[in-house]
Amino acid sequence: MGEQVGPELFDAVEVIRRKRDGGTLSDAQIDWVVDAYTRGVVADEQMAALAMAILLRGMTAAETARWTHAMIASGERLDFAGIGRPTVDKHSTGGVGDKITLPLAPVVAACGAAVPQLSGRGLGHTGGTLDKLESIPGWRASLSYGDIVRQLTDVGAVICAPTDTLAPADRKLYALRDVTGTVESIPLIASSIMSKKIAEGTSALVLDVKVGSGAFMKNVDDARALATTMVELGIAAGVRTTALLTSMDTPLGLAVGNALEVREAVEVLGGGGPPDVIELTVTLAREMLAACDVSGGVDPAKVLEDGTAMDVWRQMIQAQGGDPAAALPRAPETHVVYAPAEGVLVQLDAYAVGVAAWRLGAGRSRKEAPVSASAGVELHVKPGAYVRAGQPLLTLHAEDPAHFDRAVAALDGGIVVAPDGARPHQSLVLDRLG
Ligand code: URA
Repeated sequence: MGEQVGPELFDAVEVIRRKRDGGTLSDAQIDWVVDAYTRGVVADEQMAALAMAILLRGMTAAETARWTHAMIASGERLDFAGIGRPTVDKHSTGGVGDKITLPLAPVVAACGAAVPQLSGRGLGHTGGTLDKLESIPGWRASLSYGDIVRQLTDVGAVICAPTDTLAPADRKLYALRDVTGTVESIPLIASSIMSKKIAEGTSALVLDVKVGSGAFMKNVDDARALATTMVELGIAAGVRTTALLTSMDTPLGLAVGNALEVREAVEVLGGGGPPDVIELTVTLAREMLAACDVSGGVDPAKVLEDGTAMDVWRQMIQAQGGDPAAALPRAPETHVVYAPAEGVLVQLDAYAVGVAAWRLGAGRSRKEAPVSASAGVELHVKPGAYVRAGQPLLTLHAEDPAHFDRAVAALDGGIVVAPDGARPHQSLVLDRLG
């Protein structure tokens, strides 16, 4: 807790009441409340009340911009101006089987840009990039600012945990929102994500805003509102920002779970892998290269085919202590889920599969809880496939067979086979903004 050196500018209760009653907070009130919360002068219960008032009443565009600014000002801003290549990052709002960062960062670096990807851990039914990479023996997520700059200069890509000094107000507030039912507010989500990305010091940013059952945003209108708010915040802060809205009704690729997803990402880097993972990696890479003016050179699809993206991956993993050639952990126990009938698999629901993977041990329900590297769900088919009754649809992986019953229960209603079902076809990319 910071030492109090004089009278406080405002009273927390006065700020909470103003938002509770539908008023607009002034710049000075926002600056104070975010700073005073970071210093420990505004208590958790007061910030929780204010977050709930914001969730229910909303914030204007100007309030959201100021809130973002105050969270950036709570810590240090990184600066990569000296590394000699344009920097560009991608942020996904989170989905099931979303391992795209893993192949994407090396692909973009192999095409000539530098990718400072400060990532998070998973909570709930979506996995976190750091949890996935930690399934590689020896790999470490924590790097100093100096390490990040060195790796960006030498390798061109780094995926690591945020430094302690990056938007500390957001770290504290996000943990509080998580346990007070106040995550699902567009201004709070947008300011949380963008404060970290702007403080990270990237010159360009591509947002992958997920839409569907496995995403935060269940419908396109909410996803578009979130994407628009984030793009405006980025541009106002001088970061060239664009957004894609992409579908998250069914898992991405054929693997959900930490080591399972790393294995699939390595397949993509080796020129193979599932078509949807390749398509999204290449599409986002082209967006990122255009956003930082490195288009017109090497094509992302080519660096996947010729092995140069794989070379960057190996260097990136080794630079953080990992052994890219080491065997990944495999779960000792498996359980197969079979097709209940013959017909077209019309639904394999992302949320159901995400919860199943979480219950198998791949995710955590408390911030401090450990995750299993080997647990998860392997898909044998995707929606649109014709299946026979009794054909394997999924293989569940766990360290302990006691997890299987609850994982199977999570899938209840999430798998639909229709004898005369139309083959669903939905584009992966639903819209583009910016
Ligand atoms: N991810 C974040 O970093 N912040 C949010 O508020 C939601 C998702």
